[in-house]
Amino acid sequence: MYDFQPVSGQSKAELYRDLLMAADALTAGERDGVANMANLAALTWQSLPELNWAGFYRLLDGELVLGPFCGKPACIRIPLGKGVCGTAAQSLQTQLVDDVFAFPGHIACDAASRSELVVPVIRDGAVIAVIDLDSPRPARFDSDDAAGIEALAALAATRI
Ligand code: SME
Repeated sequence: MYDFQPVSGQSKAELYRDLLMAADALTAGERDGVANMANLAALTWQSLPELNWAGFYRLLDGELVLGPFCGKPACIRIPLGKGVCGTAAQSLQTQLVDDVFAFPGHIACDAASRSELVVPVIRDGAVIAVIDLDSPRPARFDSDDAAGIEALAALAATRI
């Protein structure tokens, strides 16, 4: 049984330290990338408050394709450079979006989303996927969240 309930009253640094340790433990020794993405999406969804979507898009044949996630069914294919996810994948840069309506070309998969954090997963200098988190609260994510999910993406790059 896996029981990684976040401890109430934790600082963000503690929360992300525990999330990373749990992510490492969950994926260590498992070579199937889909299984690992599924568990990482579920762990993130369970660990972080105020999310309405958490998961992966994988870069396949030059476009992003929906991967394992938690939340409502989502758009399946996103071209590079389009939306928040495509922008993160094309630029290899984390996208921290306080207000999705102010992001040119934002792709609305869940009408409840108000803010978004997308982090590229980079292996050998090339993007292989992105981690996408959505929140119904404007400006839900800050630089601590970006740093925490970037650490998760660095781990994911070796496990998916
Ligand atoms: N909002 C994203 C699309 C993916 S959904 O949020 C799950 C985007 O603009 O790329």
